[in-house]
Order: sequence, then C-alpha cells, then structure tokens
Amino acid sequence: MAERILTGIKPTGNLHLGNYIGVLRRLKNFQNRGECFIFIADLHALTLPIDPEVLRQNSIDIASFYLAAGLDPEKATMFLQSSVSAHGEINAVFQNYLYMGELSRMTQFKDISSKMKDSSIGLGIFAYPVLMAGDIVLYDADIVPVGEDQTQHVEIARDLVNRFNNRYGKVLKMPKAEVSKVGKRIMSLSDPTVKMSKSNPKGDIFLKDDINVIRKKIMSAVTDLGCEVKYDPENKPGISNLLVIYAAMKDISIEEAEAKFVNYRYGDFKKEVADAVIEVIEPLQQRYKEIVENKLYLKVLQEGAIKARKVADKTLKSVHKAVGLLDINE
Ligand code: TYM
Repeated sequence: MAERILTGIKPTGNLHLGNYIGVLRRLKNFQNRGECFIFIADLHALTLPIDPEVLRQNSIDIASFYLAAGLDPEKATMFLQSSVSAHGEINAVFQNYLYMGELSRMTQFKDISSKMKDSSIGLGIFAYPVLMAGDIVLYDADIVPVGEDQTQHVEIARDLVNRFNNRYGKVLKMPKAEVSKVGKRIMSLSDPTVKMSKSNPKGDIFLKDDINVIRKKIMSAVTDLGCEVKYDPENKPGISNLLVIYAAMKDISIEEAEAKFVNYRYGDFKKEVADAVIEVIEPLQQRYKEIVENKLYLKVLQEGAIKARKVADKTLKSVHKAVGLLDINE
C-alpha cells in the first residue's frame, strides 16, 4: 500500500518563510511519493483567543498557499479539520489515553502557559496534543512532515498509539515525524536565537509581505562578529540561518551553499539571499492572488472534506469498536 502522508498548518497569524521551508515547499515531493492528506488545523487555532473573521481569513490563506505551493487536488486531499467531525469525536476518546503529567511537560504548552495567568489558560491549549494525535491517527498516517518544533507532539502521538494498541490490539497505525534535512528550524532574522514564528513583523518574513519589505528584512538581518560566511550555528547563528534559507530556496545542501559564498562579504551575501527568496516568493504570491480572487480553494476544500470524512470515519469506527462503544447499525 502507498505510504500515507499527513500534515497540517494552524490558521493563526501570518504564514512565514519557516512554514514555507519546513512544510509548504515539500508538498510537491510528498504528493508524488505517497497518498497525501493536507489540512488546515482550524480547531487548533481556537486553543488561543482569535477573532472569528481573522480565523476565517487565515484559513482561506492557508488553503490558497497550499495550492499556490503546488498541491494538486488530483494527487492530494486538502481539507479543513472542522469539516470532518471525526476529529472532535476521536478527541473525546483519546483524551483518556494521554495523561496530565506528560501533557504538562510539552515544550509548546510550557512556553505558552508561562506567559499567561493560570485563570486564562484554556483546557484546549493543555490538551492540544490529544487533538493533534487524533489528526494523525485518523488517516493512518505513516509519515508526518513537520518542522522541528512539532516533533514532540508527534512523539506523544506515538506514545498514545503504543498505549492504545497494547491495550486493544493493533488498531492504530504508528506514525513517524519527518523533518526536512535543510530548514527544520528557521530562525528569526532579528534574533537568530529564537525561531521564526507567525507574530514578529520585524524578524519574520511573511509570505504575504511586499517584495521590497522582504528584501529590506533580509538586508537588515542580524549578522555575527567576523566577516566569514560560514555554517556555524553556535558561533554564527545569523549567518548560518541565512545560509540555510539560501540552501532551501535553491534546493541545494548547506555545504554547497557554504562553498558558493567563500570570500563573500556579508552585504553581498545577503543580497544574494534576498534575490533567492524573492525568486521563489514572488511567483508564489502571484499564484496565491489568483487562487484567492477566483476562490479556487473552495471546491477543493469541499471535495477534500468528502474524501477525508470517508477515511476518518472508518478509523473512528474501529476505535469505537475497540474500546467497547456499541454500534447500533451493525
Ligand atoms: P504551525 O501552524 O505552527 O506550523 C506549520 C508547520 O510549519 C512548521 N514550522 C517551521 N518549520 C521550520 N522553521 C520554523 N521556524 C517553523 N515554524 C513552524 C511547523 O513545525 C509545522 O510543521 N500543531 C501544528 C499544526 C497541526 C499538525 C497536526 C501538524 C495540527 N495537527 C497534525 C502535523 C500533523 C502547528 O501548530 O503548526
């Protein structure tokens, strides 16, 4: 059977170059390699406060960027998490198979909750990995392409699968995270010690940024002492991050990128990085615009939901059966 590949993006904030390098640019390869389920994790977006109109717009943006990045609806199934009710239903079962202690040790939860008052931390953000485990397991995913920041959530999904299968027999498929060799963690341009995220307008390159803004952000990226363009993440985090970005844009190895820039000065190096990013992002933006203007995402999402429901409902049924929920239609 073909490999099942599943991944999702949460529609909060602006899509950025880290999302593109970590996931979007790899979609074309994945859809040629196996059977792909690519979705918009809109239920996950509710785990932190978000304006309803912003959430709707962000969801359209992600669907459109998936298509702009080359997702082919003939080869891959694209859908909204909220249009497949099995996600919520499996969550109700799975919440009993992950425990408070392990959930409270999740890095993402610790980072987010440390900045909030206990009285405002919702149950959803704590139980985030439960919903995510359901996403993965519902489609019998073998491979889950993610950036490094999400690997811990895939690991805990594996723990859940183990626990569940040990108790009920081999009901669930064991998934595996697959991070990109180049660009598993793109860092902020204004502070290369923190990862690029959807919320820092100065240090993050947003996929919808004006081309001139992108050039400006790269030209003013924080660099390091010295003048050598060398891959050394510990001592030269800024330059190393730009080298990774260049390598990802050109689809070459970091060593190849490093070899190209021997004897380059920082300024000239940055200019080439900016050119490489713009060469990829400019046509991506044009395709995105066309897709949004013509609402090309809509039919794909509608048809995707039908296909996704079929697969997800089948898994949900076997989970219900395994735990002893009575099937009155049988
Ligand atoms: P999200 O929306 O934060 O990010 C989407 C994808 O982009 C990757 N990513 C990065 N990769 C490299 N460098 C960065 N700086 C960077 N920032 C983000 C993320 O690792 C992710 O792969 N919980 C997920 C959404 C989700 C999901 C799933 C993913 C929900 N259910 C099931 C896979 C399978 C999230 O919030 O990703």
